[in-house]
Amino acid sequence: MKKNKTIITKKIKDIIKKDKEVFLTTTRMNYPFIPESGENDIVRDVSGNKFIDLSSFISVYNFGINNTEIKRAIEKQVQKLVHPGFTDFYAEPPIKFGEALLKFFPKKFGKLFLSNSGTEANEAAIKFAKLFTDRSYIISFYNSFHGRTQGSLSMTSSKIVQREHFGPFANSVHVPFPYCYRCPFNQNDSKSCGFACIDYIKKYALSKEVSGKEVAGFFVEPIQGEGGYIVPPIDYFKELKKLLEEYGILLIDDEIQAGIMRTGKFIALHNFGVDADIYTFGKSIGGGIPMGVTVVKKGMDIPAGSHANTFGGNLLAVSAGEAMLNHIYKNKNFIEKEVKTKSELFMTRLKEMQEKYEIIGDVRGIGLMIGIEFVKSKKTKQPAIDLRNKILQQAFDDGLIMLGCGESTIRLIPPITIEKKNIETSLDIIEEIVKAEDKNNA
Ligand SMILES: Cc1ncc(COP(=O)(O)O)c(C=O)c1O
Repeated sequence: MKKNKTIITKKIKDIIKKDKEVFLTTTRMNYPFIPESGENDIVRDVSGNKFIDLSSFISVYNFGINNTEIKRAIEKQVQKLVHPGFTDFYAEPPIKFGEALLKFFPKKFGKLFLSNSGTEANEAAIKFAKLFTDRSYIISFYNSFHGRTQGSLSMTSSKIVQREHFGPFANSVHVPFPYCYRCPFNQNDSKSCGFACIDYIKKYALSKEVSGKEVAGFFVEPIQGEGGYIVPPIDYFKELKKLLEEYGILLIDDEIQAGIMRTGKFIALHNFGVDADIYTFGKSIGGGIPMGVTVVKKGMDIPAGSHANTFGGNLLAVSAGEAMLNHIYKNKNFIEKEVKTKSELFMTRLKEMQEKYEIIGDVRGIGLMIGIEFVKSKKTKQPAIDLRNKILQQAFDDGLIMLGCGESTIRLIPPITIEKKNIETSLDIIEEIVKAEDKNNA
């Protein structure tokens, strides 16, 4: 195994010092990563340190850094016009983008609204759901992440630090997500639990807190992302959809992190055999340029002037997005197979590590959206938060970019185009670190 050793130069230290003087604190991790350039799954920092990227920069570079087709589309468009004032004027590239996106939906499914980020796509979805149903409440899950602007934040419930000081929140109700490794209802077996999580919604949320007749929409992430890469049981969403239909509640699917082929399907919710009424996209949908998209079922239109923005329909974003979508459409079968093969490479090795090492409590995921949950011991399942952070730091020192999520989970979200040899190298690095930490923990 060829391993890089990251060197923290004076240049890196100086940039970080200046950054702290200029910018408010955000969510940055402790390790000092300052990317400067990259090619597909390899990224270099400002001092020439080289890393394998297992983050896709938070699920944005699904088709790799500096993707040639996407870059060409941006270069071509930048010569002509960047901002078309799309909510007041008309433009052709956003139409081409929209048509390319709708090819992934059932024929004549829907219409789009364009914005600039995931949270904005969700803000729009909240407003549209209220408008379409003439109801005012939204339900979402504990542990969910839908963004940080006031409406999306009302639904987000993954960490208290994200909500503290920012209330009061919009009309939202939270219910438990089927996090079967740590079942909120202490059931041992996800197959025989009879979906205690669904019963709870019926018996408590909709019977004691809010009338189903007043709920406009139910927001889901097909796989909880920021909350810990948590995959629900395969039939969960079917059961949920049945319940929502009883009350006329719209199912709103946040595909912002899980969507766009990451799980092997364009729409991650389709892994569970369920369709939603409204979909939201962000992150990789603009091929690296900021864009949010809200897709609603046809027939659900909104009155003129009731929702708009200045920058939605940015021509660089839609051109980059269209190039990516056309690439996916042309190569869908190949991409699906690639995701499956690469996922198996990760999962087989990680499951073996889970067997071998006491500190790996759970390995879960679909396609290239994989979580490794670290615990102090398999028996107590106590989250190993410091240990997880130490592993992230050590991996950075060894040339791997990975991100945490949940309390003590590491998420693996490499570009779908990651080289197989780099998967092997990454797994070797991860195993070497885990082996040493497992020994320390014993
Ligand atoms: C599932 C999900 N929804 C919404 C968002 C918010 O997107 P943005 O940061 O672009 O506002 C994120 C961001 O991490 C996300 O993962």
